Amino acid sequence: MKAVTWHGKRDVRVDTVPDPTIQEATDAIVRITTSGICGSDLHLYETLGPFMNDGDILGHEPMGVVEAVGSGVTNVAVGDRVVIPFQISCGHCFMCDQHLYTQCETTQVREEGMGAALFGFSKLYGAVAGGQAELLRVPQAQNTTIQVPDGPPDERFVLLSDVLPTAWQAVEYAAIPDGGTVVILGLGPIGAMASRIAHHQGHRVIGVDLVPDRLAREAARGIEIVDLAIHEDDLADVLREMTGGRGPDSVIDAVGMEAHGAPVGKLAHQLVGLLPDAVGEKVMEHGGIDRLSALHAAIDIVRRGGTISIIGVYGGTADPMPMLNLFDKQIQVRMGQANVKRWVGDILPLLMDGDPLDAESFATHTVPLDEAPDAYEKFQKKQDGAIKILLKP
Ligand SMILES: NC(=O)c1ccc[n+]([C@@H]2O[C@H](COP(=O)([O-])OP(=O)(O)OC[C@H]3O[C@@H](n4cnc5c(N)ncnc54)[C@H](O)[C@@H]3O)[C@@H](O)[C@H]2O)c1
Ligand SMILES: [Zn+2]
Ligand SMILES: [Zn+2]
Repeated sequence: MKAVTWHGKRDVRVDTVPDPTIQEATDAIVRITTSGICGSDLHLYETLGPFMNDGDILGHEPMGVVEAVGSGVTNVAVGDRVVIPFQISCGHCFMCDQHLYTQCETTQVREEGMGAALFGFSKLYGAVAGGQAELLRVPQAQNTTIQVPDGPPDERFVLLSDVLPTAWQAVEYAAIPDGGTVVILGLGPIGAMASRIAHHQGHRVIGVDLVPDRLAREAARGIEIVDLAIHEDDLADVLREMTGGRGPDSVIDAVGMEAHGAPVGKLAHQLVGLLPDAVGEKVMEHGGIDRLSALHAAIDIVRRGGTISIIGVYGGTADPMPMLNLFDKQIQVRMGQANVKRWVGDILPLLMDGDPLDAESFATHTVPLDEAPDAYEKFQKKQDGAIKILLKP
Protein backbone atom coordinates (compact mmCIF):
# COMPACT_ATOMS: atom_id res chain seq x y z
CA MET A 1 0.00 0.00 0.00
CA LYS A 2 0.97 3.66 -0.22
CA ALA A 3 1.67 5.59 2.99
CA VAL A 4 3.06 8.95 4.10
CA THR A 5 6.37 8.28 5.85
CA TRP A 6 8.82 10.32 7.94
CA HIS A 7 12.46 10.44 6.90
CA GLY A 8 13.87 13.45 8.74
CA LYS A 9 13.26 17.05 9.57
CA ARG A 10 10.87 18.47 6.94
CA ASP A 11 11.25 15.29 4.89
CA VAL A 12 8.05 13.31 4.44
CA ARG A 13 7.53 11.04 1.44
CA VAL A 14 4.93 8.73 -0.03
CA ASP A 15 6.38 5.22 0.03
CA THR A 16 5.11 1.78 -0.87
CA VAL A 17 5.07 -0.35 2.30
CA PRO A 18 3.64 -3.77 3.25
CA ASP A 19 -0.12 -3.93 3.87
CA PRO A 20 -1.02 -4.20 7.56
CA THR A 21 -2.56 -7.44 8.80
CA ILE A 22 -4.60 -8.53 11.82
CA GLN A 23 -2.12 -9.34 14.62
CA GLU A 24 -4.36 -9.51 17.69
CA ALA A 25 -7.93 -10.66 18.17
CA THR A 26 -8.83 -7.05 19.07
CA ASP A 27 -7.52 -5.57 15.78
CA ALA A 28 -9.39 -4.28 12.76
CA ILE A 29 -8.08 -3.27 9.35
CA VAL A 30 -9.64 -0.13 7.91
CA ARG A 31 -9.44 1.04 4.28
CA ILE A 32 -8.83 4.77 4.66
CA THR A 33 -10.95 7.14 2.60
CA THR A 34 -9.91 10.49 4.15
CA SER A 35 -7.09 11.46 6.53
CA GLY A 36 -6.22 14.87 8.02
CA ILE A 37 -2.88 16.59 8.52
CA CYS A 38 -2.70 18.10 12.01
CA GLY A 39 -0.71 20.83 13.77
CA SER A 40 0.62 17.97 15.93
CA ASP A 41 2.13 16.40 12.79
CA LEU A 42 4.07 19.62 12.36
CA HIS A 43 5.85 19.01 15.70
CA LEU A 44 7.11 15.70 14.25
CA TYR A 45 7.98 17.45 11.00
CA GLU A 46 10.05 20.08 12.76
CA THR A 47 10.98 19.49 16.41
CA LEU A 48 10.38 15.97 17.70
CA GLY A 49 12.67 14.24 15.17
CA PRO A 50 14.79 12.52 17.86
CA PHE A 51 11.76 10.39 18.76
CA MET A 52 10.98 9.32 15.18
CA ASN A 53 12.32 6.35 13.21
CA ASP A 54 13.14 6.51 9.53
CA GLY A 55 10.09 5.26 7.62
CA ASP A 56 7.49 5.74 10.39
CA ILE A 57 3.99 6.11 8.91
CA LEU A 58 2.39 9.42 9.92
CA GLY A 59 -1.21 10.42 10.53
CA HIS A 60 -3.75 10.21 13.33
CA GLU A 61 -6.92 11.72 11.83
CA PRO A 62 -8.29 9.00 9.54
CA MET A 63 -11.65 7.56 8.61
CA GLY A 64 -12.70 4.81 6.27
CA VAL A 65 -14.45 1.48 5.90
CA VAL A 66 -13.72 -1.64 7.95
CA GLU A 67 -12.13 -4.31 5.78
CA ALA A 68 -11.38 -7.03 8.36
CA VAL A 69 -11.86 -7.62 12.10
CA GLY A 70 -10.16 -9.93 14.57
CA SER A 71 -12.13 -12.66 16.34
CA GLY A 72 -12.45 -10.57 19.51
CA VAL A 73 -14.16 -7.60 17.85
CA THR A 74 -17.89 -8.13 17.95
CA ASN A 75 -19.32 -4.59 17.93
CA VAL A 76 -17.69 -3.47 14.64
CA ALA A 77 -18.28 -5.32 11.37
CA VAL A 78 -16.74 -5.47 7.91
CA GLY A 79 -18.26 -2.68 5.81
CA ASP A 80 -18.92 -0.31 8.75
CA ARG A 81 -18.09 3.35 8.14
CA VAL A 82 -15.80 4.46 10.97
CA VAL A 83 -13.80 7.46 12.16
CA ILE A 84 -10.65 6.48 14.09
CA PRO A 85 -9.83 8.48 17.28
CA PHE A 86 -6.20 9.58 17.42
CA GLN A 87 -5.61 7.64 20.64
CA ILE A 88 -5.83 3.88 21.06
CA SER A 89 -7.94 2.86 24.05
CA CYS A 90 -9.53 -0.35 25.28
CA GLY A 91 -12.77 0.98 26.73
CA HIS A 92 -12.72 -1.28 29.81
CA CYS A 93 -9.78 -0.32 32.09
CA PHE A 94 -9.79 1.93 35.18
CA MET A 95 -8.93 5.02 33.11
CA CYS A 96 -11.32 4.27 30.25
CA ASP A 97 -14.10 3.74 32.82
CA GLN A 98 -13.55 7.39 33.79
CA HIS A 99 -13.49 8.47 30.15
CA LEU A 100 -9.78 9.29 30.45
CA TYR A 101 -9.04 7.50 27.19
CA THR A 102 -5.68 9.20 26.65
CA GLN A 103 -4.51 7.49 29.85
CA CYS A 104 -5.80 4.00 28.88
CA GLU A 105 -3.95 1.45 31.02
CA THR A 106 -4.11 -1.23 28.35
CA THR A 107 -2.20 0.85 25.79
CA GLN A 108 -0.07 3.18 27.99
CA VAL A 109 3.48 3.41 26.63
CA ARG A 110 5.15 2.47 29.93
CA GLU A 111 8.70 2.13 28.49
CA GLU A 112 8.59 5.85 27.77
CA GLY A 113 6.56 6.81 30.84
CA MET A 114 3.76 8.08 28.61
CA GLY A 115 -0.02 7.79 28.36
CA ALA A 116 -2.12 5.88 25.84
CA ALA A 117 -0.56 4.93 22.50
CA LEU A 118 -1.35 7.27 19.61
CA PHE A 119 -1.42 6.56 15.91
CA GLY A 120 1.51 7.90 13.91
CA PHE A 121 3.12 9.74 16.76
CA SER A 122 6.74 8.76 17.41
CA LYS A 123 8.14 6.16 19.78
CA LEU A 124 7.13 8.33 22.73
CA TYR A 125 3.59 7.19 21.96
CA GLY A 126 4.27 3.61 20.95
CA ALA A 127 5.54 3.98 17.36
CA VAL A 128 2.17 2.79 16.01
CA ALA A 129 1.78 3.04 12.23
CA GLY A 130 -0.41 6.01 11.34
CA GLY A 131 -3.42 6.66 9.15
CA GLN A 132 -2.08 8.77 6.27
CA ALA A 133 -2.09 5.57 4.25
CA GLU A 134 -4.35 3.37 2.18
CA LEU A 135 -4.89 0.88 5.03
CA LEU A 136 -4.63 1.13 8.81
CA ARG A 137 -4.34 -1.53 11.48
CA VAL A 138 -6.54 -0.38 14.38
CA PRO A 139 -5.65 -2.03 17.71
CA GLN A 140 -8.35 -2.23 20.43
CA ALA A 141 -10.88 -1.78 17.64
CA GLN A 142 -13.81 -2.51 19.98
CA ASN A 143 -13.28 1.00 21.41
CA THR A 144 -10.92 2.73 18.98
CA THR A 145 -13.64 3.31 16.39
CA ILE A 146 -16.52 5.74 16.03
CA GLN A 147 -19.31 4.44 13.84
CA VAL A 148 -20.87 7.13 11.63
CA PRO A 149 -23.91 6.89 9.37
CA ASP A 150 -23.81 6.65 5.59
CA GLY A 151 -24.95 9.69 3.66
CA PRO A 152 -23.03 12.91 4.35
CA PRO A 153 -19.52 13.10 2.83
CA ASP A 154 -16.36 12.22 4.80
CA GLU A 155 -15.66 15.93 5.32
CA ARG A 156 -18.64 16.10 7.71
CA PHE A 157 -17.27 13.39 10.02
CA VAL A 158 -13.50 13.17 9.66
CA LEU A 159 -12.82 15.92 12.21
CA LEU A 160 -14.32 13.64 14.89
CA SER A 161 -10.92 11.91 15.02
CA ASP A 162 -9.22 14.92 16.57
CA VAL A 163 -10.15 18.53 15.75
CA LEU A 164 -13.75 18.46 17.01
CA PRO A 165 -13.26 16.56 20.30
CA THR A 166 -9.98 18.38 20.98
CA ALA A 167 -11.62 21.77 20.50
CA TRP A 168 -14.62 20.61 22.54
CA GLN A 169 -12.40 19.55 25.45
CA ALA A 170 -10.49 22.85 25.22
CA VAL A 171 -13.77 24.71 25.72
CA GLU A 172 -15.02 22.37 28.48
CA TYR A 173 -11.74 22.65 30.39
CA ALA A 174 -11.82 26.46 30.03
CA ALA A 175 -14.85 26.49 32.38
CA ILE A 176 -16.22 29.69 30.86
CA PRO A 177 -18.89 31.05 33.23
CA ASP A 178 -22.34 32.07 31.97
CA GLY A 179 -22.03 35.48 30.37
CA GLY A 180 -18.24 35.11 30.45
CA THR A 181 -15.49 35.76 27.95
CA VAL A 182 -12.86 33.42 26.55
CA VAL A 183 -9.68 34.46 24.76
CA ILE A 184 -8.37 31.84 22.34
CA LEU A 185 -4.67 32.04 21.52
CA GLY A 186 -4.03 30.53 18.07
CA LEU A 187 -6.64 30.17 15.32
CA GLY A 188 -5.19 27.11 13.61
CA PRO A 189 -7.71 24.28 13.18
CA ILE A 190 -7.94 23.62 16.91
CA GLY A 191 -8.32 27.25 18.04
CA ALA A 192 -10.68 28.05 15.15
CA MET A 193 -12.96 25.12 15.98
CA ALA A 194 -12.81 25.96 19.71
CA SER A 195 -13.88 29.51 18.87
CA ARG A 196 -16.86 28.16 16.89
CA ILE A 197 -17.88 25.85 19.74
CA ALA A 198 -17.61 28.54 22.44
CA HIS A 199 -19.48 31.01 20.23
CA HIS A 200 -22.17 28.41 19.50
CA GLN A 201 -22.54 27.90 23.26
CA GLY A 202 -23.25 31.62 23.62
CA HIS A 203 -19.98 32.86 25.09
CA ARG A 204 -18.11 36.00 24.09
CA VAL A 205 -15.04 34.87 22.12
CA ILE A 206 -11.88 36.83 21.30
CA GLY A 207 -9.43 35.07 18.97
CA VAL A 208 -5.72 35.92 18.65
CA ASP A 209 -3.36 34.91 15.82
CA LEU A 210 -0.97 36.55 13.41
CA VAL A 211 -2.00 34.89 10.14
CA PRO A 212 -4.37 37.24 8.29
CA ASP A 213 -6.57 34.61 6.62
CA ARG A 214 -6.98 32.67 9.87
CA LEU A 215 -8.11 35.83 11.67
CA ALA A 216 -10.39 36.84 8.81
CA ARG A 217 -12.10 33.47 8.53
CA GLU A 218 -13.26 33.39 12.16
CA ALA A 219 -13.99 37.14 12.27
CA ALA A 220 -16.45 36.54 9.42
CA ARG A 221 -18.33 34.17 11.75
CA GLY A 222 -18.83 36.86 14.37
CA ILE A 223 -16.01 36.42 16.85
CA GLU A 224 -13.83 39.35 17.88
CA ILE A 225 -10.19 39.16 16.86
CA VAL A 226 -6.87 40.71 17.89
CA ASP A 227 -3.93 40.60 15.48
CA LEU A 228 -0.76 39.54 17.29
CA ALA A 229 1.31 40.96 14.44
CA ILE A 230 0.10 44.42 15.51
CA HIS A 231 -0.13 43.80 19.26
CA GLU A 232 2.90 41.65 20.00
CA ASP A 233 4.09 44.02 22.73
CA ASP A 234 0.80 45.05 24.29
CA LEU A 235 -1.43 41.99 23.77
CA ALA A 236 -2.40 41.52 27.42
CA ASP A 237 -3.13 45.25 27.85
CA VAL A 238 -5.34 45.28 24.76
CA LEU A 239 -7.26 42.22 25.97
CA ARG A 240 -7.69 43.69 29.46
CA GLU A 241 -9.07 46.89 27.92
CA MET A 242 -11.58 44.78 25.97
CA THR A 243 -12.70 43.03 29.17
CA GLY A 244 -13.37 45.83 31.60
CA GLY A 245 -9.74 46.13 32.74
CA ARG A 246 -9.83 42.77 34.51
CA GLY A 247 -8.95 40.28 31.77
CA PRO A 248 -11.05 37.41 30.40
CA ASP A 249 -12.52 34.68 32.61
CA SER A 250 -10.82 31.98 30.57
CA VAL A 251 -7.95 31.62 28.12
CA ILE A 252 -7.41 28.67 25.79
CA ASP A 253 -3.82 28.08 24.63
CA ALA A 254 -4.30 26.49 21.20
CA VAL A 255 -0.73 27.17 20.12
CA GLY A 256 1.61 24.83 21.98
CA MET A 257 5.33 24.28 21.86
CA GLU A 258 6.17 26.02 18.60
CA ALA A 259 4.83 29.45 19.44
CA HIS A 260 5.85 32.54 17.56
CA GLY A 261 7.90 35.00 19.62
CA ALA A 262 10.08 32.66 21.71
CA PRO A 263 13.68 33.10 20.57
CA VAL A 264 15.30 31.08 23.39
CA GLY A 265 13.08 28.04 22.90
CA LYS A 266 13.45 28.26 19.14
CA LEU A 267 17.22 28.20 19.45
CA ALA A 268 17.00 25.21 21.80
CA HIS A 269 14.81 23.36 19.28
CA GLN A 270 17.25 24.13 16.49
CA LEU A 271 20.20 22.90 18.58
CA VAL A 272 18.42 19.65 19.44
CA GLY A 273 17.76 19.21 15.72
CA LEU A 274 21.51 19.35 15.04
CA LEU A 275 22.42 16.67 17.60
CA PRO A 276 22.65 12.96 16.80
CA ASP A 277 19.24 11.41 17.57
CA ALA A 278 20.31 9.47 20.68
CA VAL A 279 21.80 12.60 22.25
CA GLY A 280 18.96 14.84 21.09
CA GLU A 281 16.46 12.43 22.66
CA LYS A 282 18.23 12.63 26.06
CA VAL A 283 18.41 16.41 25.86
CA MET A 284 14.68 16.61 25.10
CA GLU A 285 13.84 14.13 27.89
CA HIS A 286 15.86 15.81 30.61
CA GLY A 287 16.39 19.41 29.56
CA GLY A 288 13.87 20.04 26.80
CA ILE A 289 12.27 23.45 26.80
CA ASP A 290 9.27 24.62 24.87
CA ARG A 291 8.68 27.89 23.11
CA LEU A 292 6.46 29.21 25.88
CA SER A 293 5.34 32.61 24.65
CA ALA A 294 1.69 31.62 24.19
CA LEU A 295 1.45 29.99 27.62
CA HIS A 296 3.21 32.88 29.33
CA ALA A 297 0.84 35.24 27.51
CA ALA A 298 -2.13 33.20 28.76
CA ILE A 299 -0.95 33.54 32.38
CA ASP A 300 -0.64 37.29 31.94
CA ILE A 301 -3.96 37.71 30.11
CA VAL A 302 -6.36 35.63 32.25
CA ARG A 303 -8.18 37.45 35.03
CA ARG A 304 -7.40 36.69 38.66
CA GLY A 305 -9.17 33.50 39.68
CA GLY A 306 -9.72 32.59 36.02
CA THR A 307 -9.01 29.38 34.12
CA ILE A 308 -6.41 28.48 31.53
CA SER A 309 -7.13 25.52 29.27
CA ILE A 310 -3.98 24.26 27.54
CA ILE A 311 -4.80 22.22 24.46
CA GLY A 312 -1.64 23.02 22.46
CA VAL A 313 0.93 20.28 22.91
CA TYR A 314 4.01 20.83 25.11
CA GLY A 315 6.94 18.45 25.39
CA GLY A 316 9.58 20.08 27.58
CA THR A 317 10.76 18.80 30.93
CA ALA A 318 12.65 21.89 32.05
CA ASP A 319 10.22 24.65 31.20
CA PRO A 320 10.62 27.83 33.22
CA MET A 321 7.19 28.74 34.59
CA PRO A 322 6.17 31.93 36.40
CA MET A 323 4.91 30.23 39.55
CA LEU A 324 4.63 33.59 41.33
CA ASN A 325 1.98 34.79 38.89
CA LEU A 326 0.17 31.45 38.65
CA PHE A 327 -0.06 31.24 42.42
CA ASP A 328 -0.74 34.88 43.20
CA LYS A 329 -3.42 35.21 40.52
CA GLN A 330 -5.02 32.00 41.78
CA ILE A 331 -5.24 30.55 38.30
CA GLN A 332 -6.85 27.18 37.54
CA VAL A 333 -5.00 25.25 34.83
CA ARG A 334 -6.32 22.18 32.98
CA MET A 335 -4.66 20.41 30.08
CA GLY A 336 -4.00 17.18 28.26
CA GLN A 337 -4.57 15.25 25.10
CA ALA A 338 -8.24 15.16 24.23
CA ASN A 339 -10.21 12.12 25.40
CA VAL A 340 -11.87 11.73 22.01
CA LYS A 341 -14.73 9.36 22.79
CA ARG A 342 -15.67 11.33 25.90
CA TRP A 343 -17.07 14.09 23.66
CA VAL A 344 -18.48 12.22 20.65
CA GLY A 345 -21.95 12.02 22.20
CA ASP A 346 -22.01 15.82 22.52
CA ILE A 347 -20.71 16.50 19.02
CA LEU A 348 -22.37 13.92 16.76
CA PRO A 349 -25.89 15.39 17.16
CA LEU A 350 -24.58 18.78 15.97
CA LEU A 351 -23.07 17.15 12.88
CA MET A 352 -26.37 15.43 12.09
CA ASP A 353 -28.55 18.46 12.79
CA GLY A 354 -27.67 21.33 10.47
CA ASP A 355 -23.89 21.31 11.11
CA PRO A 356 -23.85 24.71 12.90
CA LEU A 357 -20.05 24.51 13.31
CA ASP A 358 -19.66 24.11 9.51
CA ALA A 359 -17.46 21.08 9.99
CA GLU A 360 -18.20 19.91 6.46
CA SER A 361 -16.65 23.00 4.85
CA PHE A 362 -13.89 23.43 7.47
CA ALA A 363 -11.01 21.99 5.43
CA THR A 364 -9.41 24.51 3.09
CA HIS A 365 -7.60 21.91 0.94
CA THR A 366 -8.31 18.33 -0.12
CA VAL A 367 -5.52 16.64 -2.07
CA PRO A 368 -4.53 13.11 -3.16
CA LEU A 369 -2.26 11.19 -0.75
CA ASP A 370 0.56 11.47 -3.30
CA GLU A 371 0.67 15.22 -2.73
CA ALA A 372 1.31 14.89 1.03
CA PRO A 373 4.91 16.21 0.93
CA ASP A 374 3.74 19.41 -0.73
CA ALA A 375 0.72 19.64 1.60
CA TYR A 376 2.92 19.38 4.72
CA GLU A 377 5.11 22.19 3.48
CA LYS A 378 2.14 24.38 2.59
CA PHE A 379 0.51 23.78 5.99
CA GLN A 380 3.69 24.47 7.92
CA LYS A 381 4.39 27.67 6.01
CA LYS A 382 0.70 28.65 6.22
CA GLN A 383 0.72 29.29 2.47
CA ASP A 384 -2.18 29.45 0.06
CA GLY A 385 -4.71 29.95 2.86
CA ALA A 386 -4.02 26.43 4.19
CA ILE A 387 -5.84 26.02 7.51
CA LYS A 388 -6.87 22.36 7.33
CA ILE A 389 -5.68 19.87 4.73
CA LEU A 390 -7.28 16.49 4.07
CA LEU A 391 -5.57 13.68 2.16
CA LYS A 392 -7.46 11.23 -0.05
CA PRO A 393 -5.70 7.86 -0.42
N1 LIG B 1 -4.36 18.23 23.19
C1 LIG B 1 -4.71 17.55 22.10
O1 LIG B 1 -5.33 16.51 22.17
C2 LIG B 1 -4.33 18.11 20.77
C3 LIG B 1 -4.91 17.58 19.62
C4 LIG B 1 -4.63 18.16 18.39
C5 LIG B 1 -3.75 19.24 18.34
N2 LIG B 1 -3.17 19.68 19.48
C6 LIG B 1 -2.23 20.80 19.49
O2 LIG B 1 -2.94 22.01 19.39
C7 LIG B 1 -2.07 22.99 18.84
C8 LIG B 1 -2.77 23.67 17.69
O3 LIG B 1 -3.01 22.74 16.65
P1 LIG B 1 -3.41 23.25 15.21
O4 LIG B 1 -3.67 22.06 14.37
O5 LIG B 1 -4.49 24.27 15.32
O6 LIG B 1 -1.97 23.89 14.79
P2 LIG B 1 -1.47 25.15 13.96
O7 LIG B 1 0.00 25.10 14.07
O8 LIG B 1 -2.10 25.16 12.62
O9 LIG B 1 -2.04 26.41 14.76
C9 LIG B 1 -1.34 27.17 15.67
C10 LIG B 1 -1.72 28.65 15.43
O10 LIG B 1 -1.14 29.45 16.47
C11 LIG B 1 -0.69 30.67 15.91
N3 LIG B 1 0.31 31.22 16.84
C12 LIG B 1 1.65 30.97 16.89
N4 LIG B 1 2.22 31.62 17.92
C13 LIG B 1 1.22 32.31 18.54
C14 LIG B 1 1.19 33.15 19.68
N5 LIG B 1 2.31 33.40 20.39
N6 LIG B 1 -0.01 33.67 20.05
C15 LIG B 1 -1.15 33.40 19.33
N7 LIG B 1 -1.17 32.60 18.23
C16 LIG B 1 0.01 32.06 17.86
C17 LIG B 1 -0.16 30.26 14.56
O11 LIG B 1 -0.09 31.36 13.67
C18 LIG B 1 -1.18 29.20 14.12
O12 LIG B 1 -2.24 29.76 13.36
C19 LIG B 1 -0.79 22.26 18.45
O13 LIG B 1 0.17 22.40 19.50
C20 LIG B 1 -1.24 20.83 18.37
O14 LIG B 1 -0.17 19.93 18.60
C21 LIG B 1 -3.47 19.14 20.68
ZN1 LIG C 1 -4.39 15.88 15.12
ZN1 LIG D 1 -8.38 1.47 28.58
